[in-house]
Amino acid sequence: MSSEDVLFTITSKNLDSGLRGVPVGTCQTSFVDPYEGVHYVGYPVEDLVNMEEEDVIFLLMNKRLPTEEEAQEFHSELTQRGENIPTGALRVLESLTPGSGHPMDWLSIGIMALGAAENTGDTKADAMNLIARMPELMARIFRLRAGEKDKLKPRRPGLGLVENFVHMMGFEGQEARDIERVLRFFFILHMDHGGGNLSTFSGKAVASGWASIYSSISSAMNALSGPLHGRANQACLEFVQRIGTSDHKEIETFVRAELENRRPIFGFGHGVLRAEDPRARLLIELGEEICPDDDNFKIVRALREVVPPILSEIPKISNPYPNVDIASGSLLHSVGFTMPEYYTTFFGWARVAGISAQILDERNSRDGRGTPIYRPKYIPKNQPLRRLD
Ligand code: MLT
Repeated sequence: MSSEDVLFTITSKNLDSGLRGVPVGTCQTSFVDPYEGVHYVGYPVEDLVNMEEEDVIFLLMNKRLPTEEEAQEFHSELTQRGENIPTGALRVLESLTPGSGHPMDWLSIGIMALGAAENTGDTKADAMNLIARMPELMARIFRLRAGEKDKLKPRRPGLGLVENFVHMMGFEGQEARDIERVLRFFFILHMDHGGGNLSTFSGKAVASGWASIYSSISSAMNALSGPLHGRANQACLEFVQRIGTSDHKEIETFVRAELENRRPIFGFGHGVLRAEDPRARLLIELGEEICPDDDNFKIVRALREVVPPILSEIPKISNPYPNVDIASGSLLHSVGFTMPEYYTTFFGWARVAGISAQILDERNSRDGRGTPIYRPKYIPKNQPLRRLD
């Protein structure tokens, strides 16, 4: 690509379109092919989904998979950074009223609290500290928001990120192993999705003004909390539960009624993808393995068959196929996370790695001068020049 190549022609129809499809930068961590879905540094996500989560984070940060020795070192570094969390850094969560707000509010506040307790000013060190301390933040959000502080277990050095969260939550034995399997899978699938999804873009925009990793990621989490973005996984399981049947005819009637009433059909469509999201397929394959007879999962399986032909009848819908949100909630539910309002926090936790890696890439660009502060142009509308008399 030369600096003279024309990549895109802007016309007035591109205005007020949420920058849809407008190229604004480069991304080194991942790309989303409209038909093949997300690839992390060139690897289709299905090649990575059964790896250790730390190895995939290493890939996003370093643009290659680690050797065995590097993997061990990276793991030890995360363990050490997790252990060195400043004492009382998350005490602010104890002052929030259990059950108040949305768990995403707690996530954003918790990330800011970690930054207030320790901001080294070294973006990479701060990113690694945040990634390492997320399991503890997540476990605290779950237990404190439920008013169950006594159930919280102290972190255990040496465990993987997902394993430590599951341990701190107090799960044990086979139950813990089942949760780890689903969470690790979910975690890897949600780490990154190109540069232009709303949370990543927002995080990078904030970071471009040289805000700290904590402020940038907390802003990204606020962007993720919207029902059109990350909170769609919560909305999707609630939608599945509202349908309440895996009978194809009844689902068709339900979906057509929703469309007639101009209500969204959750778990379908995407801004970039033009085929079924491979993350949806991978989650459904995992569901077939771990919970084929689960009531919610049976509805998801039926929706996947019934809905695309119905949505295809609507000319303005360019992607009638399932997206990542269709099955993630039913899988989390099947291993015991029965409250959909927490699902977006798992999405956010996973995305901390991808967004941090992208922020580091932008900070290191232009020979270390960094990407300039984001400043797109807006065209004035409905504001003729006027003066006070
Ligand atoms: C994501 O993973 O961020 C979503 O699929 C949304 C997007 O890519 O725009």
